Amino acid sequence: MKRIAIFASGSGSNAENIARYFSGSNDIEISLILSNKKEAFVHERAKKLGIPSYTFSKTEFDEADLILETLQQYEIDFIVLAGFLLKVPRPILEAFPNRIINIHPALLPKYGGKGMYGDRVHRAVIDAGEKESGISIHYVNEHYDEGNIIFQATCEVLPSDSPDDIAQKVHQLEYNYFPEVIEKIVRNNNFDKIHKK
Ligand code: GAR
Repeated sequence: MKRIAIFASGSGSNAENIARYFSGSNDIEISLILSNKKEAFVHERAKKLGIPSYTFSKTEFDEADLILETLQQYEIDFIVLAGFLLKVPRPILEAFPNRIINIHPALLPKYGGKGMYGDRVHRAVIDAGEKESGISIHYVNEHYDEGNIIFQATCEVLPSDSPDDIAQKVHQLEYNYFPEVIEKIVRNNNFDKIHKK
């Protein structure tokens, strides 16, 4: 059994979608959900899904000891960031080499970096007059949104689109592709085998 931990800071609709995708699997499981926000809706989702979820502070995250202990306790093999807003500290990166991935709601390398999350990303895409946006799934390294890109998918941006309209299109891409990409990476641990759009 491969055990995945999801880190999420907000609503957690991706976390839920991923958990539902793997709920029928007999060799991949979402075993744990961790968040830096106590009030994040992802905890409600975790409760309904029967997945343990915990909150940690930014200091605990940066110090990493408690997080690493928890990941070890749940025998976690792989980490997925799904709407998670903190930079992953070195000890966690070193404990999970090439085994942490993130989803970003735009076509990296554009519109990434510190502070670029949620609607801020979609607003920047609109302000730049882009005709398309999309999702980027990438390995996580010590810089925000800079690890190797594994997979991208695109959606159209219309002149009349609001940040919310783009968010909806992007979420649909995330729901369609993220679980499948996670499955491929966890099975092969090799992103070269994944078709890059
Ligand atoms: C997702 O669109 C994800 O790509 C984005 O936050 C949203 C979380 O939605 N992540 C970032 O912006 C990271 N920089 P969710 O909580 O409903 O899954």
